[in-house]
Amino acid sequence: MERPRTPPSGDSTGLLDPTDWEAFRALAHRAVDEALDDLATVRERPVWRPLPDELPAQFHAPLPRAPQGADAAYADYRQWVAPWQMGNTHPRFWSWYMGAGTPFGALADFLAAALNPNMGGGNHVANHVEAQVLDWCKEIVGLPLESGGLLVSGASMANFVGLAVARNAVEGVDLRTDGVQALPARTSWYASSEVHSCVQKALELLGLGSRALRKVPVDAEFRIDLEALEAMIAADRAAGLEPRCVIGNAGTINTGSVDDLAGLAAICRREGLWFHVDGAIGAVLALSPAHRHLVAGIEQADSIAIDLHKWLQVPFEAGCALVRDRQRHRSTFALTPEYLEKTERGLASGPLWFSEYGLQLSRGFRALKVWLSFKEHGLDRYAELIDRNIRHARALAALVEAAPDLELMAPVVINIVCLRFNPGGLDDQRLNALNEELLIRLHESGIAAPSYTTLGGRYCLRAAIANHRTDERDLRTAVDAIQRIGAELIRG
Ligand SMILES: Cc1ncc(COP(=O)(O)O)c(C=O)c1O
Repeated sequence: MERPRTPPSGDSTGLLDPTDWEAFRALAHRAVDEALDDLATVRERPVWRPLPDELPAQFHAPLPRAPQGADAAYADYRQWVAPWQMGNTHPRFWSWYMGAGTPFGALADFLAAALNPNMGGGNHVANHVEAQVLDWCKEIVGLPLESGGLLVSGASMANFVGLAVARNAVEGVDLRTDGVQALPARTSWYASSEVHSCVQKALELLGLGSRALRKVPVDAEFRIDLEALEAMIAADRAAGLEPRCVIGNAGTINTGSVDDLAGLAAICRREGLWFHVDGAIGAVLALSPAHRHLVAGIEQADSIAIDLHKWLQVPFEAGCALVRDRQRHRSTFALTPEYLEKTERGLASGPLWFSEYGLQLSRGFRALKVWLSFKEHGLDRYAELIDRNIRHARALAALVEAAPDLELMAPVVINIVCLRFNPGGLDDQRLNALNEELLIRLHESGIAAPSYTTLGGRYCLRAAIANHRTDERDLRTAVDAIQRIGAELIRG
Protein backbone atom coordinates (compact mmCIF):
# COMPACT_ATOMS: atom_id res chain seq x y z
CA MET A 1 0.00 0.00 0.00
CA GLU A 2 1.22 3.45 -0.83
CA ARG A 3 2.31 5.48 2.16
CA PRO A 4 0.54 8.78 2.81
CA ARG A 5 2.66 11.69 1.75
CA THR A 6 4.83 13.04 4.54
CA PRO A 7 3.08 16.12 5.86
CA PRO A 8 5.16 19.27 5.56
CA SER A 9 6.48 20.73 8.78
CA GLY A 10 5.45 24.28 9.51
CA ASP A 11 1.94 25.67 9.86
CA SER A 12 0.16 22.34 9.56
CA THR A 13 2.26 20.81 12.32
CA GLY A 14 1.57 21.37 16.01
CA LEU A 15 4.07 22.62 18.52
CA LEU A 16 4.42 19.13 19.96
CA ASP A 17 4.42 17.24 16.67
CA PRO A 18 7.66 15.87 15.20
CA THR A 19 9.71 18.44 13.35
CA ASP A 20 10.79 15.69 11.00
CA TRP A 21 7.95 13.25 10.34
CA GLU A 22 10.14 10.84 8.38
CA ALA A 23 12.62 10.58 11.23
CA PHE A 24 9.78 10.07 13.68
CA ARG A 25 8.22 7.42 11.46
CA ALA A 26 11.55 5.54 11.52
CA LEU A 27 11.65 5.77 15.32
CA ALA A 28 8.05 4.54 15.56
CA HIS A 29 8.78 1.58 13.32
CA ARG A 30 11.85 0.73 15.36
CA ALA A 31 9.86 0.99 18.60
CA VAL A 32 7.21 -1.37 17.25
CA ASP A 33 9.85 -3.81 16.01
CA GLU A 34 11.67 -3.83 19.32
CA ALA A 35 8.49 -4.25 21.36
CA LEU A 36 7.39 -7.14 19.16
CA ASP A 37 10.86 -8.73 19.33
CA ASP A 38 10.66 -8.55 23.11
CA LEU A 39 7.26 -10.22 23.11
CA ALA A 40 8.24 -12.90 20.62
CA THR A 41 11.29 -13.88 22.69
CA VAL A 42 9.85 -13.38 26.17
CA ARG A 43 10.19 -17.07 27.05
CA GLU A 44 13.99 -16.83 26.73
CA ARG A 45 14.27 -14.27 29.52
CA PRO A 46 13.76 -14.56 33.27
CA VAL A 47 10.19 -14.00 34.42
CA TRP A 48 11.39 -11.29 36.79
CA ARG A 49 14.73 -9.77 37.77
CA PRO A 50 15.59 -7.65 40.79
CA LEU A 51 16.03 -4.00 39.78
CA PRO A 52 19.72 -2.99 39.56
CA ASP A 53 20.97 -0.79 42.38
CA GLU A 54 21.64 2.15 40.08
CA LEU A 55 18.13 2.14 38.63
CA PRO A 56 16.15 4.19 41.17
CA ALA A 57 18.53 7.13 40.67
CA GLN A 58 17.34 7.36 37.07
CA PHE A 59 13.94 8.31 38.37
CA HIS A 60 15.00 11.13 40.62
CA ALA A 61 16.00 13.50 37.85
CA PRO A 62 14.91 17.14 38.07
CA LEU A 63 12.06 18.36 35.88
CA PRO A 64 13.37 18.17 32.31
CA ARG A 65 12.81 21.73 31.12
CA ALA A 66 14.89 21.47 27.99
CA PRO A 67 13.96 19.07 25.17
CA GLN A 68 15.79 15.81 24.99
CA GLY A 69 14.11 14.73 21.76
CA ALA A 70 12.14 11.58 21.03
CA ASP A 71 15.19 9.51 20.06
CA ALA A 72 17.01 10.18 23.32
CA ALA A 73 13.83 9.75 25.39
CA TYR A 74 13.18 6.44 23.67
CA ALA A 75 16.77 5.35 24.33
CA ASP A 76 16.18 6.00 28.04
CA TYR A 77 13.04 3.90 27.84
CA ARG A 78 14.94 1.03 26.22
CA GLN A 79 17.70 1.20 28.81
CA TRP A 80 15.85 1.91 32.03
CA VAL A 81 12.28 0.78 31.56
CA ALA A 82 11.79 -1.97 28.99
CA PRO A 83 14.22 -4.54 30.47
CA TRP A 84 12.86 -4.36 34.02
CA GLN A 85 9.37 -5.62 33.51
CA MET A 86 6.90 -6.91 36.03
CA GLY A 87 6.99 -10.19 34.16
CA ASN A 88 3.34 -10.80 33.38
CA THR A 89 4.00 -11.14 29.66
CA HIS A 90 6.05 -14.28 30.47
CA PRO A 91 4.59 -17.80 30.20
CA ARG A 92 5.54 -18.66 33.80
CA PHE A 93 4.00 -15.58 35.43
CA TRP A 94 1.08 -16.70 37.60
CA SER A 95 1.07 -14.04 40.32
CA TRP A 96 -2.04 -12.45 41.82
CA TYR A 97 -4.42 -12.62 38.88
CA MET A 98 -3.29 -11.01 35.66
CA GLY A 99 -3.54 -11.36 31.96
CA ALA A 100 -0.41 -11.46 29.81
CA GLY A 101 -1.58 -8.94 27.19
CA THR A 102 -1.34 -9.51 23.45
CA PRO A 103 0.60 -7.88 20.60
CA PHE A 104 -2.58 -6.70 18.88
CA GLY A 105 -3.89 -5.39 22.18
CA ALA A 106 -0.74 -3.31 22.49
CA LEU A 107 -1.13 -2.02 18.96
CA ALA A 108 -4.76 -1.17 19.72
CA ASP A 109 -3.64 1.01 22.63
CA PHE A 110 -1.41 2.91 20.21
CA LEU A 111 -4.27 3.34 17.75
CA ALA A 112 -6.61 4.49 20.53
CA ALA A 113 -4.08 7.08 21.64
CA ALA A 114 -3.52 8.22 18.06
CA LEU A 115 -7.24 8.95 17.67
CA ASN A 116 -7.32 10.20 21.27
CA PRO A 117 -11.10 10.66 21.63
CA ASN A 118 -12.60 11.62 24.96
CA MET A 119 -15.14 8.96 25.85
CA GLY A 120 -17.17 11.14 28.20
CA GLY A 121 -19.76 11.79 25.50
CA GLY A 122 -20.38 13.56 22.21
CA ASN A 123 -21.34 12.34 18.81
CA HIS A 124 -18.39 10.38 17.49
CA VAL A 125 -17.79 6.83 16.44
CA ALA A 126 -15.68 5.74 19.40
CA ASN A 127 -18.79 5.76 21.61
CA HIS A 128 -20.38 3.24 19.28
CA VAL A 129 -17.33 1.02 19.68
CA GLU A 130 -17.77 1.10 23.46
CA ALA A 131 -21.52 0.45 23.17
CA GLN A 132 -20.75 -2.54 20.97
CA VAL A 133 -18.20 -3.91 23.43
CA LEU A 134 -20.68 -3.48 26.29
CA ASP A 135 -23.33 -5.36 24.33
CA TRP A 136 -20.85 -8.17 23.78
CA CYS A 137 -20.08 -8.28 27.51
CA LYS A 138 -23.82 -8.46 28.25
CA GLU A 139 -24.11 -11.30 25.77
CA ILE A 140 -21.25 -13.19 27.44
CA VAL A 141 -22.95 -13.19 30.84
CA GLY A 142 -26.54 -13.29 29.57
CA LEU A 143 -27.79 -9.86 30.70
CA PRO A 144 -30.38 -8.19 28.45
CA LEU A 145 -28.99 -5.78 25.87
CA GLU A 146 -31.09 -2.97 27.40
CA SER A 147 -28.93 -3.17 30.54
CA GLY A 148 -26.64 -0.31 31.48
CA GLY A 149 -22.89 -0.69 31.20
CA LEU A 150 -19.58 1.09 31.35
CA LEU A 151 -15.99 0.20 30.62
CA VAL A 152 -13.84 1.05 33.62
CA SER A 153 -10.26 0.63 34.77
CA GLY A 154 -10.86 -2.79 36.28
CA ALA A 155 -13.03 -4.82 38.60
CA SER A 156 -12.39 -2.57 41.62
CA MET A 157 -14.10 0.26 39.77
CA ALA A 158 -16.70 -2.08 38.26
CA ASN A 159 -17.64 -3.33 41.72
CA PHE A 160 -17.78 0.24 42.95
CA VAL A 161 -20.16 1.20 40.13
CA GLY A 162 -22.48 -1.78 40.73
CA LEU A 163 -22.53 -1.26 44.48
CA ALA A 164 -23.14 2.48 44.11
CA VAL A 165 -26.24 1.76 42.04
CA ALA A 166 -27.31 -0.86 44.59
CA ARG A 167 -26.88 1.67 47.40
CA ASN A 168 -29.00 4.27 45.61
CA ALA A 169 -31.71 1.78 44.61
CA VAL A 170 -33.89 2.53 47.58
CA GLU A 171 -37.44 3.79 47.46
CA GLY A 172 -38.41 6.88 49.41
CA VAL A 173 -34.89 8.21 50.03
CA ASP A 174 -33.07 10.57 47.68
CA LEU A 175 -29.57 9.42 48.44
CA ARG A 176 -27.95 11.79 45.98
CA THR A 177 -29.44 14.78 47.72
CA ASP A 178 -29.63 13.67 51.32
CA GLY A 179 -26.78 11.19 51.60
CA VAL A 180 -26.59 8.00 53.65
CA GLN A 181 -27.66 9.89 56.79
CA ALA A 182 -31.17 9.86 55.33
CA LEU A 183 -31.36 6.06 55.36
CA PRO A 184 -33.85 4.91 58.00
CA ALA A 185 -31.57 2.07 59.15
CA ARG A 186 -28.04 0.85 58.73
CA THR A 187 -27.83 -1.34 55.66
CA SER A 188 -26.09 -4.72 55.53
CA TRP A 189 -24.24 -6.19 52.59
CA TYR A 190 -23.36 -9.86 52.43
CA ALA A 191 -20.47 -11.66 50.82
CA SER A 192 -18.40 -14.69 51.68
CA SER A 193 -15.30 -14.37 53.82
CA GLU A 194 -13.36 -14.88 50.56
CA VAL A 195 -14.65 -11.68 48.94
CA HIS A 196 -12.03 -9.39 47.40
CA SER A 197 -10.89 -6.40 49.45
CA CYS A 198 -12.07 -3.97 46.77
CA VAL A 199 -15.67 -4.66 47.83
CA GLN A 200 -14.91 -3.46 51.33
CA LYS A 201 -13.14 -0.41 49.91
CA ALA A 202 -16.19 0.37 47.79
CA LEU A 203 -18.55 0.14 50.76
CA GLU A 204 -16.26 2.36 52.80
CA LEU A 205 -16.13 4.96 50.03
CA LEU A 206 -19.90 4.77 49.56
CA GLY A 207 -20.26 5.97 53.14
CA LEU A 208 -21.65 2.67 54.37
CA GLY A 209 -18.65 1.68 56.45
CA SER A 210 -16.78 -1.60 56.48
CA ARG A 211 -19.02 -2.81 59.32
CA ALA A 212 -21.86 -2.95 56.79
CA LEU A 213 -20.04 -5.80 55.03
CA ARG A 214 -21.19 -9.00 56.64
CA LYS A 215 -18.76 -11.78 55.90
CA VAL A 216 -20.49 -15.12 55.54
CA PRO A 217 -18.60 -18.36 56.28
CA VAL A 218 -17.57 -20.67 53.45
CA ASP A 219 -17.70 -24.43 52.97
CA ALA A 220 -14.71 -26.74 52.46
CA GLU A 221 -14.46 -25.56 48.85
CA PHE A 222 -14.46 -21.90 49.87
CA ARG A 223 -18.02 -21.26 48.58
CA ILE A 224 -20.45 -19.12 50.49
CA ASP A 225 -22.57 -21.09 52.95
CA LEU A 226 -26.14 -20.37 51.86
CA GLU A 227 -27.72 -21.46 55.13
CA ALA A 228 -25.41 -19.27 57.13
CA LEU A 229 -26.23 -16.39 54.78
CA GLU A 230 -29.96 -16.81 55.33
CA ALA A 231 -29.47 -16.98 59.07
CA MET A 232 -27.40 -13.78 59.04
CA ILE A 233 -30.03 -11.96 56.98
CA ALA A 234 -32.76 -13.01 59.42
CA ALA A 235 -30.68 -12.04 62.44
CA ASP A 236 -29.88 -8.64 60.94
CA ARG A 237 -33.53 -7.93 60.19
CA ALA A 238 -34.43 -8.93 63.74
CA ALA A 239 -31.78 -6.50 65.00
CA GLY A 240 -33.33 -3.62 63.02
CA LEU A 241 -30.73 -3.53 60.24
CA GLU A 242 -31.74 -3.32 56.60
CA PRO A 243 -30.28 -6.11 54.46
CA ARG A 244 -29.60 -4.58 51.05
CA CYS A 245 -27.39 -6.66 48.81
CA VAL A 246 -25.62 -9.98 48.37
CA ILE A 247 -22.32 -10.05 46.53
CA GLY A 248 -21.59 -13.39 44.90
CA ASN A 249 -18.09 -14.46 43.91
CA ALA A 250 -17.57 -15.86 40.45
CA GLY A 251 -13.98 -16.87 41.12
CA THR A 252 -12.43 -15.88 44.43
CA ILE A 253 -9.00 -14.36 44.48
CA ASN A 254 -7.55 -16.90 46.94
CA THR A 255 -8.62 -20.18 45.37
CA GLY A 256 -10.83 -19.43 42.34
CA SER A 257 -13.88 -20.77 44.12
CA VAL A 258 -17.26 -19.98 42.58
CA ASP A 259 -20.29 -19.38 44.80
CA ASP A 260 -23.62 -21.01 44.02
CA LEU A 261 -24.86 -18.03 42.03
CA ALA A 262 -28.27 -19.51 41.23
CA GLY A 263 -28.75 -20.22 44.94
CA LEU A 264 -27.77 -16.65 45.79
CA ALA A 265 -30.11 -15.27 43.12
CA ALA A 266 -32.99 -17.23 44.65
CA ILE A 267 -32.23 -15.92 48.14
CA CYS A 268 -32.03 -12.35 46.82
CA ARG A 269 -35.37 -12.71 45.06
CA ARG A 270 -37.01 -14.12 48.16
CA GLU A 271 -35.54 -11.48 50.44
CA GLY A 272 -35.90 -8.55 48.07
CA LEU A 273 -32.13 -7.91 47.95
CA TRP A 274 -29.90 -6.58 45.21
CA PHE A 275 -27.76 -9.33 43.67
CA HIS A 276 -24.30 -8.22 42.63
CA VAL A 277 -21.68 -10.59 41.20
CA ASP A 278 -17.95 -9.96 41.40
CA GLY A 279 -17.02 -11.74 38.21
CA ALA A 280 -13.54 -10.20 37.93
CA ILE A 281 -12.02 -13.61 37.47
CA GLY A 282 -14.78 -15.99 36.52
CA ALA A 283 -17.63 -14.19 34.74
CA VAL A 284 -15.97 -15.17 31.48
CA LEU A 285 -16.35 -18.86 32.35
CA ALA A 286 -19.74 -18.30 30.71
CA LEU A 287 -17.89 -18.36 27.38
CA SER A 288 -16.84 -21.97 27.78
CA PRO A 289 -19.38 -24.70 27.00
CA ALA A 290 -17.37 -27.03 29.25
CA HIS A 291 -17.32 -24.71 32.25
CA ARG A 292 -20.23 -22.30 32.02
CA HIS A 293 -22.25 -24.44 34.43
CA LEU A 294 -19.96 -23.12 37.17
CA VAL A 295 -21.44 -19.62 36.80
CA ALA A 296 -25.05 -20.62 36.15
CA GLY A 297 -27.22 -17.94 37.72
CA ILE A 298 -24.91 -15.04 36.85
CA GLU A 299 -27.50 -13.97 34.28
CA GLN A 300 -29.92 -13.26 37.15
CA ALA A 301 -27.65 -10.64 38.72
CA ASP A 302 -28.71 -7.01 39.09
CA SER A 303 -25.13 -5.93 38.52
CA ILE A 304 -21.88 -7.62 37.51
CA ALA A 305 -18.21 -6.67 37.58
CA ILE A 306 -16.09 -8.26 34.85
CA ASP A 307 -12.40 -7.90 34.19
CA LEU A 308 -11.17 -7.97 30.62
CA HIS A 309 -7.51 -7.48 31.54
CA LYS A 310 -7.47 -10.76 33.45
CA TRP A 311 -8.49 -13.97 31.70
CA LEU A 312 -9.30 -12.26 28.39
CA GLN A 313 -5.76 -10.86 28.15
CA VAL A 314 -6.70 -7.32 27.11
CA PRO A 315 -3.79 -5.06 28.14
CA PHE A 316 -4.33 -3.13 31.38
CA GLU A 317 -6.63 -1.37 32.10
CA ALA A 318 -9.94 -2.87 31.04
CA GLY A 319 -12.88 -3.75 33.24
CA CYS A 320 -16.61 -3.66 32.73
CA ALA A 321 -19.54 -2.77 34.96
CA LEU A 322 -22.97 -4.02 33.93
CA VAL A 323 -26.25 -3.02 35.58
CA ARG A 324 -29.51 -4.67 34.59
CA ASP A 325 -31.61 -1.55 35.23
CA ARG A 326 -30.11 1.03 32.89
CA GLN A 327 -32.23 3.83 34.31
CA ARG A 328 -31.08 3.19 37.87
CA HIS A 329 -27.51 3.01 36.61
CA ARG A 330 -27.81 6.37 34.88
CA SER A 331 -29.65 8.06 37.70
CA THR A 332 -26.86 7.16 40.12
CA PHE A 333 -24.25 9.08 38.13
CA ALA A 334 -25.79 11.48 35.58
CA LEU A 335 -25.35 15.18 36.29
CA THR A 336 -25.62 17.62 33.43
CA PRO A 337 -24.35 21.15 33.95
CA GLU A 338 -24.86 23.72 31.18
CA TYR A 339 -21.48 23.04 29.64
CA LEU A 340 -22.40 19.39 29.10
CA GLU A 341 -25.91 19.88 27.80
CA LYS A 342 -26.74 17.92 24.67
CA THR A 343 -27.73 19.48 21.40
CA GLU A 344 -30.05 18.19 18.68
CA ARG A 345 -27.33 18.18 16.05
CA GLY A 346 -23.57 18.59 15.89
CA LEU A 347 -20.73 17.26 18.04
CA ALA A 348 -22.68 17.50 21.31
CA SER A 349 -25.61 15.46 20.02
CA GLY A 350 -26.14 11.71 20.15
CA PRO A 351 -27.41 9.34 22.80
CA LEU A 352 -24.11 7.88 24.02
CA TRP A 353 -22.75 9.82 26.99
CA PHE A 354 -20.82 7.35 29.07
CA SER A 355 -19.90 9.99 31.65
CA GLU A 356 -23.51 9.62 32.82
CA TYR A 357 -22.81 6.05 33.93
CA GLY A 358 -19.75 6.50 36.11
CA LEU A 359 -17.50 8.85 38.00
CA GLN A 360 -15.18 9.84 35.19
CA LEU A 361 -15.96 12.62 32.76
CA SER A 362 -12.87 12.41 30.58
CA ARG A 363 -12.30 8.80 29.65
CA GLY A 364 -9.87 6.97 27.39
CA PHE A 365 -10.71 4.81 24.40
CA ARG A 366 -10.10 1.47 26.17
CA ALA A 367 -13.00 0.04 24.19
CA LEU A 368 -10.85 -0.13 21.07
CA LYS A 369 -8.42 -2.74 22.39
CA VAL A 370 -11.36 -4.89 23.50
CA TRP A 371 -13.21 -4.48 20.20
CA LEU A 372 -10.12 -5.28 18.13
CA SER A 373 -9.06 -8.20 20.31
CA PHE A 374 -12.50 -9.83 20.23
CA LYS A 375 -12.58 -9.44 16.45
CA GLU A 376 -9.02 -10.70 16.06
CA HIS A 377 -9.49 -13.96 17.94
CA GLY A 378 -13.22 -14.60 18.12
CA LEU A 379 -14.71 -15.51 21.47
CA ASP A 380 -14.44 -19.25 20.89
CA ARG A 381 -10.68 -18.93 21.09
CA TYR A 382 -10.98 -17.26 24.49
CA ALA A 383 -13.18 -20.17 25.56
CA GLU A 384 -10.36 -22.48 24.42
CA LEU A 385 -7.89 -20.46 26.51
CA ILE A 386 -10.13 -20.74 29.56
CA ASP A 387 -10.41 -24.51 29.12
CA ARG A 388 -6.67 -24.81 28.52
CA ASN A 389 -5.74 -22.81 31.64
CA ILE A 390 -8.11 -24.93 33.72
CA ARG A 391 -6.41 -28.03 32.31
CA HIS A 392 -3.06 -26.52 33.24
CA ALA A 393 -4.24 -25.92 36.79
CA ARG A 394 -5.40 -29.50 37.12
CA ALA A 395 -2.14 -30.78 35.64
CA LEU A 396 -0.16 -28.67 38.11
CA ALA A 397 -2.31 -29.98 40.96
CA ALA A 398 -1.62 -33.52 39.77
CA LEU A 399 2.14 -32.89 39.76
CA VAL A 400 1.86 -31.51 43.28
CA GLU A 401 -0.14 -34.46 44.51
CA ALA A 402 2.30 -36.89 42.98
CA ALA A 403 5.30 -35.25 44.67
CA PRO A 404 6.07 -36.50 48.18
CA ASP A 405 7.45 -33.12 49.29
CA LEU A 406 4.61 -30.93 47.95
CA GLU A 407 1.13 -30.44 49.33
CA LEU A 408 -2.00 -29.22 47.60
CA MET A 409 -3.65 -26.68 49.89
CA ALA A 410 -7.09 -26.14 48.35
CA PRO A 411 -9.36 -27.80 45.83
CA VAL A 412 -8.70 -26.64 42.27
CA VAL A 413 -11.97 -25.36 40.84
CA ILE A 414 -10.77 -23.26 37.93
CA ASN A 415 -7.26 -22.00 37.25
CA ILE A 416 -5.84 -21.26 40.70
CA VAL A 417 -3.59 -23.73 42.50
CA CYS A 418 -2.49 -23.30 46.12
CA LEU A 419 0.39 -25.48 47.27
CA ARG A 420 3.33 -25.60 49.63
CA PHE A 421 6.63 -27.34 49.97
CA ASN A 422 6.27 -29.78 52.83
CA PRO A 423 9.04 -32.34 53.24
CA GLY A 424 7.43 -33.66 56.44
CA GLY A 425 8.37 -33.27 60.10
CA LEU A 426 7.87 -29.47 60.25
CA ASP A 427 5.06 -27.61 62.00
CA ASP A 428 2.94 -24.95 60.26
CA GLN A 429 4.99 -22.10 61.66
CA ARG A 430 8.23 -23.49 60.23
CA LEU A 431 6.52 -24.41 56.99
CA ASN A 432 5.19 -20.86 56.65
CA ALA A 433 8.66 -19.36 57.05
CA LEU A 434 10.18 -21.96 54.73
CA ASN A 435 7.65 -21.37 51.97
CA GLU A 436 7.88 -17.58 52.23
CA GLU A 437 11.63 -17.75 51.69
CA LEU A 438 11.18 -20.36 48.97
CA LEU A 439 8.84 -18.09 47.02
CA ILE A 440 11.23 -15.14 47.21
CA ARG A 441 14.10 -17.32 45.97
CA LEU A 442 11.90 -18.66 43.19
CA HIS A 443 11.13 -15.10 42.07
CA GLU A 444 14.80 -14.18 42.30
CA SER A 445 15.72 -17.21 40.23
CA GLY A 446 13.59 -15.81 37.41
CA ILE A 447 12.20 -19.27 36.71
CA ALA A 448 8.57 -18.81 37.68
CA ALA A 449 6.42 -16.28 39.49
CA PRO A 450 3.49 -17.67 41.38
CA SER A 451 2.32 -15.46 44.25
CA TYR A 452 1.14 -16.34 47.74
CA THR A 453 -1.77 -16.41 50.09
CA THR A 454 -2.55 -17.74 53.53
CA LEU A 455 -5.35 -20.26 54.00
CA GLY A 456 -6.39 -21.13 57.53
CA GLY A 457 -3.12 -19.71 58.84
CA ARG A 458 -1.04 -21.76 56.42
CA TYR A 459 1.13 -19.89 53.94
CA CYS A 460 0.76 -21.13 50.36
CA LEU A 461 2.38 -20.55 47.02
CA ARG A 462 -0.46 -19.67 44.69
CA ALA A 463 -0.39 -20.05 40.91
CA ALA A 464 -3.19 -18.24 39.06
CA ILE A 465 -2.76 -19.48 35.51
CA ALA A 466 -4.57 -16.85 33.46
CA ASN A 467 -1.90 -16.81 30.81
CA HIS A 468 -2.23 -17.58 27.12
CA ARG A 469 1.53 -18.23 26.83
CA THR A 470 1.75 -20.96 29.47
CA ASP A 471 2.21 -24.51 28.23
CA GLU A 472 2.56 -27.91 29.92
CA ARG A 473 6.37 -27.72 30.06
CA ASP A 474 6.15 -24.62 32.20
CA LEU A 475 4.33 -26.48 34.95
CA ARG A 476 7.03 -29.12 35.23
CA THR A 477 9.75 -26.46 35.15
CA ALA A 478 8.12 -24.60 38.02
CA VAL A 479 7.54 -27.72 40.12
CA ASP A 480 11.17 -28.83 39.64
CA ALA A 481 12.39 -25.40 40.75
CA ILE A 482 10.13 -25.37 43.82
CA GLN A 483 11.37 -28.82 44.86
CA ARG A 484 15.00 -27.92 44.24
CA ILE A 485 14.87 -24.62 46.15
CA GLY A 486 12.88 -26.27 48.95
CA ALA A 487 15.48 -29.01 49.31
CA GLU A 488 18.30 -26.43 49.32
CA LEU A 489 16.57 -24.52 52.10
CA ILE A 490 16.18 -27.67 54.16
CA ARG A 491 19.85 -28.53 53.71
CA GLY A 492 20.65 -24.97 54.88
C1 LIG B 1 -12.19 -11.46 42.58
C2 LIG B 1 -11.58 -10.12 42.31
N1 LIG B 1 -12.34 -9.02 42.42
C3 LIG B 1 -11.85 -7.80 42.18
C4 LIG B 1 -10.54 -7.61 41.83
C5 LIG B 1 -10.03 -6.23 41.56
O1 LIG B 1 -9.80 -6.11 40.20
P1 LIG B 1 -8.89 -4.98 39.55
O2 LIG B 1 -7.49 -5.29 40.02
O3 LIG B 1 -9.07 -5.17 38.09
O4 LIG B 1 -9.37 -3.67 40.05
C6 LIG B 1 -9.71 -8.72 41.71
C7 LIG B 1 -8.29 -8.56 41.35
O5 LIG B 1 -7.54 -9.47 41.27
C8 LIG B 1 -10.25 -10.01 41.94
O6 LIG B 1 -9.49 -11.10 41.82
